[in-house]
Formats: sequence, structure tokens, C-alpha cells
Amino acid sequence: MNTYYHQVTKAKNDAKNVAIAQSIIKHINEVQDLNLDHYLKTIGDVGYQIYLVDDEKIHKFYGGNYRVRDLPDSTVQKVLNGKIYHGMRDFPRETFVTGFFANYLSNTVGVPFQYHQKHYAMFLRPDIKLLFNEVHTIMGGWTLFMGIISLAAMLFFAKLLIRPITELTAATKRIARERFDTPLKIERKDEIGQLATSFNTMMGQLQENDLMRKEFISNVSHDFQSPLLNIQGYAGLLKSELTEEERHNYVAIIQNETHRLSTLTKQLLLLTSLDQAARRIERKEYSLDQQLKITIQKYRWWLEEEGINLSMTLEPTIFNGDAGLLENVWENLLTNAIKYNRSDGDIYVTLASSMKEVNVIIQDTGIGMNDVTKKQLFERFYRADESRSKEGTGLGLSIVEEIIHLHEGHIKVESELNKGTTFIISLPNL
Ligand SMILES: Nc1ncnc2c1ncn2[C@@H]1O[C@H](COP(=O)(O)OP(=O)(O)OP(=O)(O)O)[C@@H](O)[C@H]1O
Ligand SMILES: [Mg+2]
Repeated sequence: MNTYYHQVTKAKNDAKNVAIAQSIIKHINEVQDLNLDHYLKTIGDVGYQIYLVDDEKIHKFYGGNYRVRDLPDSTVQKVLNGKIYHGMRDFPRETFVTGFFANYLSNTVGVPFQYHQKHYAMFLRPDIKLLFNEVHTIMGGWTLFMGIISLAAMLFFAKLLIRPITELTAATKRIARERFDTPLKIERKDEIGQLATSFNTMMGQLQENDLMRKEFISNVSHDFQSPLLNIQGYAGLLKSELTEEERHNYVAIIQNETHRLSTLTKQLLLLTSLDQAARRIERKEYSLDQQLKITIQKYRWWLEEEGINLSMTLEPTIFNGDAGLLENVWENLLTNAIKYNRSDGDIYVTLASSMKEVNVIIQDTGIGMNDVTKKQLFERFYRADESRSKEGTGLGLSIVEEIIHLHEGHIKVESELNKGTTFIISLPNL
């Protein structure tokens, strides 16, 4: 405002006051027998500060007082000589003080006039104190009011902004205590709203993970518990008087159960190693058809025992992958095809490869599966009811799926109850 006053208003204000001074002089000149002293006193009372000097340097003040009387004699003389003094226009600029309010004698306009053959110089400026005192109070009050309102509004909005953050903090503490049941209720469209939404998503995910972990542990414990109980029970029986046949049977059961425990431990170890930070797979080029042949060879005895006929069409294929891990895939798929087959059933193994990918299809003519099983097939520990009679832990296919995903491939299942099941695996050639 100060700059604006000095740039724009100052000159206009000066001109305005010169015009006022001149109209006062006009009145002095026009009215016969005017009492100059009385007239100027009235003008002073109306709201002007006047400094009057005559050519004998006798001076007089009318109206409000000047705070600083700094008008040089030379200036007075110039006005007496007939010049107009533009003190308002030429008032020096100061950084923070608006010149408009400077109650200086030099901050006036000066005009010459004659009265009863005498020369006078009249300096004048409006009496700011008199004219604007109330405005000052109102402006001051207004400013204070605005200040308080702004501060209150600022505090209010700051609080409003901070509240969801406080809620988020409380929610993180709840999560740390494994309490996932109270989602955040922040409905906003801004960044904090987005944060709250992702936070809720994260909370849901953590809750799901937590449930899965607990279920996993309970499954593992259960799967360890039952063979251990069996072993304990039959080992106890071995201490009593038994026929050779009974002894033989019990030992066989114990052997079976330890075998089951050992398989379970191996599978769990494999699963954890797969889980660990999306384990890096060690790719190496090797003959996939050879690997499949060897795996099938390994289970020849079982196929014969079950009277299952296996036919294969294996295209010679060099694949770049983790042979150790993929062996688990073929083994599990093949044992499933044997286990969940009917006696005298069939198994077809096909390997076909293209530039882009390698496809392995393992098809059986077994018990097949219903839609529920198809959905849950790849879950850890899942086993369909009709499979319970066969040995297994239900970890096989979850391991298979993870290994395929680590190879950036995918696995698909087609199955019809009592007709058979087909697993189709595609692995991209990288
Ligand atoms: N070829 C198949 N035909 C019919 N059902 C199948 C077939 N393969 C898998 N299933 C069903 O899916 C379930 C999960 O299979 P998965 O291989 O994960 O476990 P499993 O064979 O029971 O035990 P293991 O961990 O020893 O492999 C099986 O229990 C069975 O119910
Ligand atoms: Mg299996």
C-alpha cells in the first residue's frame, strides 16, 4: 500500500489539496471584508491544518498541530514569491511509513495569495487525526478480527487435516497388536483418502495372511500329530506278547507313518524355501523330455502294480529352467494321476514345444473332481474327501503351482467327475 501511495496516490492527493487551497483563496479574494483570521480558524476546525506566513515572516497555525515543523525558510520564500509548493507530491519515500499519514509541515501543499495588499503563503494538509480517527479504529478492529478469524480457521482446518492421520496412527498400532477387525472410516477423495483406502486394503491382506498362517500352522500340527500318535501307539503294542505276523504288521505301520512324516517335512521345507523372498530359481538348459522319461521310469513299478497303462508323446526339448524344482512338479502330477486313477486306467503324457513356450499335458482316466475341488485344488493341505483313502498331505499341488509361477508359466486343470483329469502346464521359453 505504501508503494502504491508513493507511485500513484501521492501526486493525486497533492493536486487535490492544491485545488482545495486554491478554492479557499478564491473565497478569500471574492468575499469583501472577510475576516481572514476567523475564516482560516473555521477551515482549521473543519479539518485542515494550516500554516500561514506573511511577507514580514509573521506566521500562525490553524487547526490541528503538526508533529514535525520542518519547512525550510527558502520554501516559504518561494511560495511568497508566487510559486506553488508541492510538498505532498515530493515527500520522500520511506520503506514502511505511508507518506499519507506523515504529519509533517513539509508534507503539505503551499499556495501564495494576497490579502489587503499583503503577500501570504498558506500551507495546508488535511487533519488526518480529526478526519480519520474513527476509520482508524474501525480498520484496526477489522484487522484484529480478521486475524483472529484466520487463526481460528487455520487451527480448525489443521485439526481437520490431522484427524485422519491420528486415526491412521491408531490403526497402525492396532495392526501391530494383530487386530485387523476395525477398518478405517475415512471417506475422502484427497490424498489422505487414498492413503486410507490403501491402508484398508493392506489391512485386509494382512488379515487374510494372518488367517492363512494360523490355518497353515494348525494343519501342519495336525498332520504331524496323527502319524506320531500312531507310531506311539503301535510302538507300545510292540512291547507286549505278539505273534510274528502281528509284529510284522505293526512294524510296517510304523514304517509307513515315519515315511509320511518324512515326506511331509520335505514338502514343508521345499514350501518355505519357495516362499522365501520369491526365491531366485537357478536356470540351466537341460533335456526336458529326458527328465519326464526318467520320472515315469521311477514309477514303473507302481503303474504295473495298479495295472495302469501309460503312453507318452515326448518331443525332444531343451528347456532353460530349474531342473531340481521342476522334477517335483512332474513327480507330483504323475503320482496324482496314478493315485487318483482307477485300476486298469490310462495316463497320457505329452510334451510339445514351440519357439515361445513348452507345453506339458498329463491326462488320466481317474476319479476326476467336482467343481469345489477344482477351485481349492492348489490350496495348501487341501484334499478332496474321496482322496482321503490314498496317502498324501495335500501340499503337492500348491508346491507345483508355486514352482510353475516361479518359472513365469501357468497351470490349468480340466476335469470331469469319474471321467478323468487333465493338467496342462505351459512354461515360457526365456
Ligand atoms: N489327477 C487327479 N485326479 C483327481 N483328483 C486329483 C488329481 N490331482 C489332484 N487331485 C485332488 O487334489 C488334491 C490335492 O492334490 P495334491 O497333489 O496337492 O495333494 P495330494 O496328492 O493329496 O498329497 P501330496 O501332497 O502327497 O501330493 C488331492 O488330494 C485330490 O483330491
Ligand atoms: Mg499329490
